[in-house]
Parts: sequence; C-alpha cells; structure tokens
Amino acid sequence: MKKLIVLAAVFIAMPLMAQEESILHHYAARNFTAGDVGKERLDTVLTAGVNAPSAMNRQPWRFTVAQDIKFVKQIIPDAKDGNVLIIVSVELKNGNAASAVLDCGLAVQSMYLAAQAVGLGSRIYTGPIGIVNGKLKKEIPAGHTAVAIVRIGMVEKADAVTAASSRKSMEKIVTYK
Ligand SMILES: Cc1cc2nc3c(=O)[nH]c(=O)nc-3n(C[C@H](O)[C@H](O)[C@H](O)COP(=O)(O)O)c2cc1C
Repeated sequence: MKKLIVLAAVFIAMPLMAQEESILHHYAARNFTAGDVGKERLDTVLTAGVNAPSAMNRQPWRFTVAQDIKFVKQIIPDAKDGNVLIIVSVELKNGNAASAVLDCGLAVQSMYLAAQAVGLGSRIYTGPIGIVNGKLKKEIPAGHTAVAIVRIGMVEKADAVTAASSRKSMEKIVTYK
C-alpha cells in the first residue's frame, strides 16, 4: 500500500517537475545541428502556441511554418538542414497593437519552451523580422505584420543551467510593497 502511494505521488509529480524544469531552465540555442525535428514534435510545439493565453481569448496570431531550407535561409542564413522557423504574425488594428503584440509574445514563449521540453533546441528572433515584413511579406497572411520568429531544431545537448546567460538578481528587479 505504502509503495502504491509513493508510486502515485511520483506519477503526479512527474509532469509538474517537467513543467517547472522547462519554465525555470531554458536557454536560447546557439549550436543548432542538422536533422529533422519530426512531425510529432513540431505539432507539439505548434499546439503549445495554439493554446497560449490571449487578451479576451482573441487568439489574434497566425503561425507561418518555414520548412523549406531555401526559404529558411533567406531569413536566417546560417540555418541548418531541418531547422524550422515559426513566424508569428498578427493583424495590427487601431487600438489593439499593445495587447496583440503581447499575445503573440506569449505564443512565442510557449512554443520556445515546448520545443525544449520535447528535447529540441529553440531560439527567439526579432532581428530578421524586417526581412519578413519586407521582401518576404507575401509569405505571411495578407494584412499581417510579423512580430517574432521561433527557430526550432536539433541541437547538441547542453545543460540549460550553465548554457543560459546570467540574469539580473531578484533583488534588483523585484520590489515588495
Ligand atoms: C524578443 C526576443 C528577440 C530576440 N531576437 C534575437 C535575434 O534577433 N537574434 C538572436 O541571435 N537572438 C535573439 N534573441 C535571443 C536572446 O538573445 C536570448 O534569448 C537571450 O540573450 C537569453 O539567452 P540565454 O537563453 O542563452 O540566456 C531574442 C530573444 C527575445 C526574447
């Protein structure tokens, strides 16, 4: 009986631990390697984006998935075979810009974390957004503005704790009143 309770506790704790692990310990991948991310893992990442929260549940985002390596390299020239880019875009209308962009940011973050939770590398990019909103504009939904790109791919396994850059201390950024 005692064994059963311990086993049940472990099974309940496992998903929580996995969630905490991916929220607390992540890093922006630098050393992507060539290799297919696989349809199942790509679907999991996209599902995380689809399920992200948004203001008034508007879900204003659209995800354009760039898999063709020639297309991918137009946006990130050093991309490796099999890297996938998820371009998150939104229709910016008068008055909705702040929350629409924030909504997209949440979808971006969810996909970034989900990729790492399923063992892929991921990195968020805004640097190449000008290229997407410029010469590649026709590749995203009409009327949309690209907000960010999530790059996912195979990566040499690194320790997320040491691979991540340092952060400001909690004392510096948190104020208790
Ligand atoms: C909104 C946003 C935009 C970013 N844009 C770029 C980019 O254009 N190019 C790039 O190499 N990394 C980009 N990054 C990755 C950050 O540089 C990285 O997340 C940050 O330095 C933390 O790195 P770490 O996870 O290794 O600690 C971006 C990250 C965010 C959140």
